[in-house]
Amino acid sequence: MTFEVEQTTGDSGWFTHDRFGLFIHWGLYSLAARHEWLQSRERLSGEAYRNKYFNKFDPDLYDPELWAQLAFDAGMKYVVATTKHHEGFCLWDTKLTDYKAPNTPAGRDLIRPMADAFRKRGMKVGFYHSLIDWHHPDYTVDTKHPLRFDPEAVSNNANKDFSRYRDYLFGQTKELMTEYGNVDLLFYDFSFPAENGLSGKGKEDWGSEELIKLIRKLKPNILLNDRLQIGGDITTPEQYLPTKWVQVDGKRVVWETPHTFSGSWGYYRDEESWKSVDMLVKMLIDVVSKGGNLLLNVGPTGRGEFDERTMDRLKGIGEWMRRHSRSIYGCTQAPESIRCPQDCRLTYNPSLNRLYVHVYSWPFKSIHLQGMAGQVEYAQLLNDASEIRFKQGFVESGIENGAYKEGRDESTLVLSLPVKKPDVTVPVIELFLKGGPAQR
Ligand code: GLC
Repeated sequence: MTFEVEQTTGDSGWFTHDRFGLFIHWGLYSLAARHEWLQSRERLSGEAYRNKYFNKFDPDLYDPELWAQLAFDAGMKYVVATTKHHEGFCLWDTKLTDYKAPNTPAGRDLIRPMADAFRKRGMKVGFYHSLIDWHHPDYTVDTKHPLRFDPEAVSNNANKDFSRYRDYLFGQTKELMTEYGNVDLLFYDFSFPAENGLSGKGKEDWGSEELIKLIRKLKPNILLNDRLQIGGDITTPEQYLPTKWVQVDGKRVVWETPHTFSGSWGYYRDEESWKSVDMLVKMLIDVVSKGGNLLLNVGPTGRGEFDERTMDRLKGIGEWMRRHSRSIYGCTQAPESIRCPQDCRLTYNPSLNRLYVHVYSWPFKSIHLQGMAGQVEYAQLLNDASEIRFKQGFVESGIENGAYKEGRDESTLVLSLPVKKPDVTVPVIELFLKGGPAQR
């Protein structure tokens, strides 16, 4: 590590190495195909929602092996899959409710084969679990709830016993922590303040302290996110690209930013704001250049497939990753002493002592690396390992034989680039810094 980072209780070694994961949002909302919050947006009671979608959930084309392979080929190293979203529907064979995939036409536990398929490919497996639940009878109406505008439903809160919901949350957590093998990460979602005269929910409601104790007892190494309103190993600013390494109380932390392809987490048929491959690759680079992870979300269809737009993006990212993942895995923010040249992003592999210059806008012939003279042993383009020659040392600028010669100072190293941009989404120059591990 080049930077001091707040220690985590869980094992974050694999996490800060792997950098790139797949988020999966899948549930009954995939059938509505218009955002996973539709139950709340359209103010549907748990019953009305269930009546409409539960017995229509038939993912006959679900192929977890294919999902895992597509993620693997895109260069993703871990998965975080929804076990239950805010709607309350459970994708695994929980003993604690009948509102679960085995009781729909799907007829089976959908989580177990998914976890197996990803693990088989050497990927880590994490679960997203919603704290919010719009189906459980004892979950009280709050400011996010679908029935928040229904006075009768709000007054019915008095007849609910939220501690029963808390027990349910603990019970389900226990199932997920004991029956699904080595779960590497747990992503709870989420706590929120009171608003518009209606209550919010937070650590007291969830019983966060006890819940964390339970999880740590069952899975001492698991990585926990930060949405229980206490601690957590991973800070997760979402749908936003931080401008620098994320800090909590003035200290750099392990962080991960979850992102969608198009704005919605659940499958959204008519959404048109899909990000391009170019933008997605740049988002990944940008995040790693600030010491973070990218968790990129797929919303599979109700039939159990990744749609064409998803396949197109994953394929494009995978093409870039096949040749450039070396600038992502095991990499982090470059030491602050190294200045990032114009239109570039830097990542750095501390154990190899290599610097990666990601060139967002291909310049004419030269990249000037200020302060780097004498520090580079060798340079190459990462996509084809073709040598990039460089010049360093002092040259005065001025006219020479009628031509203008740009000067450089003693400390600048100038990379001599081909005029033609390599035919890849984002070209990367790999710099072997002096003092790295001996080459064989
Ligand atoms: C937000 C949304 C939720 C989504 C999550 C992903 O909390 O409520 O729909 O699952 O972000 O991090």
